[in-house]
Amino acid sequence: MKAYFLLYFGSVLLLSCNNNNAQSQKIDSTRGLKDYYKGYFTMGVSVSPSALKSNEAGLIIKQFGSITPENAMKLANIHPKENEYYWKDADSIVAFAKRNNLKVRGHTLIWYQEIPSWFLEDSFGNPVTKEVFFQRLKEHITTIVTRYKGSVYAWDVVNEAISDDKNDFYRQSKLFQIAGEEFIFKAFEYAHEADPNALLFYNDYNEIDPIKRAKIISLIKKMQASGVPVSAIGLQAHWDIYEPTKEQLETTLKDFSALKLPLQITEMDISIYPRKPYKNLDVDTTIGCNLKKQTLQQRQYKMYFERFRKYKSSITGVTFWDISDKHSWLDNFPIKNRKDYPLLFDTTLKPKKAFWEIALFKN
Ligand code: GLA
Repeated sequence: MKAYFLLYFGSVLLLSCNNNNAQSQKIDSTRGLKDYYKGYFTMGVSVSPSALKSNEAGLIIKQFGSITPENAMKLANIHPKENEYYWKDADSIVAFAKRNNLKVRGHTLIWYQEIPSWFLEDSFGNPVTKEVFFQRLKEHITTIVTRYKGSVYAWDVVNEAISDDKNDFYRQSKLFQIAGEEFIFKAFEYAHEADPNALLFYNDYNEIDPIKRAKIISLIKKMQASGVPVSAIGLQAHWDIYEPTKEQLETTLKDFSALKLPLQITEMDISIYPRKPYKNLDVDTTIGCNLKKQTLQQRQYKMYFERFRKYKSSITGVTFWDISDKHSWLDNFPIKNRKDYPLLFDTTLKPKKAFWEIALFKN
């Protein structure tokens, strides 16, 4: 009975990726990630209004120097109808940041997802004209950026406009179909007019793919050459325990830092599941966590932060996408109800071994 219990208990611990970390006993309990990384970059995390009222609030304040609204500022949430803004959630996040002396990264002003149809269609359900689209885009961006001027220091202005398909440069979204590449340029212009001091990001994922990376870089160069006020680059970093490799990440950071714009890692999480079928890698596709996956995750996090520190003159911030393994969007993506464990804090909010690898670095 006792042996059975231990076996059961042990497997639950492993399946959930939780650690009992004796190491934490030796550590100064008053220091958080933001303190360990003081001479490097701002450490941040994405939040929801409910997390700020939960027991995660203390963890956020202790560990991080910056927060990003995970969903509250997305178009569908903050501007659900043409003449209706919903400020409550975003305001509560900004107020929390003020009370606790945290910076706020705004996310995101224009994105092809989570966008209501009123924004893109006329009253007959047909796509709006370019002129109407730009009026709406300008009104939307100006209203939001002006409201949070001085409180939000950086905006993900345009999210995910580049295609993953090697045959297309731009994502063939409704935004693109209505307005072409100009929607990207105008979004930056409107944001800059509303708050000339804000840091304005182009943000995208799959940045380690050389073809997509080249397209992102060429878009940034095009904007720079034509005076579009893009001032920083966001690399989402939704990665996994197999990729990127050290070489892939090194090349990625080298290529982006050559643009001489501030870089931020904006949505970091390291899934314990392979995100794609890897050809030459021995991947574990079982559901749940195990020791091998935990160890790989720990190693990857360590290696990623070694690279980030190496590029500290370019990287100005690293933001995690969600706080702890208690909840992540990856619990339902790409497969519904498949629990993932992608973060530095476990389901009981304790630091995982990966946390200590990152916090107690030697170089
Ligand atoms: C993208 C978006 C984020 C978020 C994640 C999934 O990366 O930029 O806002 O929606 O997808 O949660």
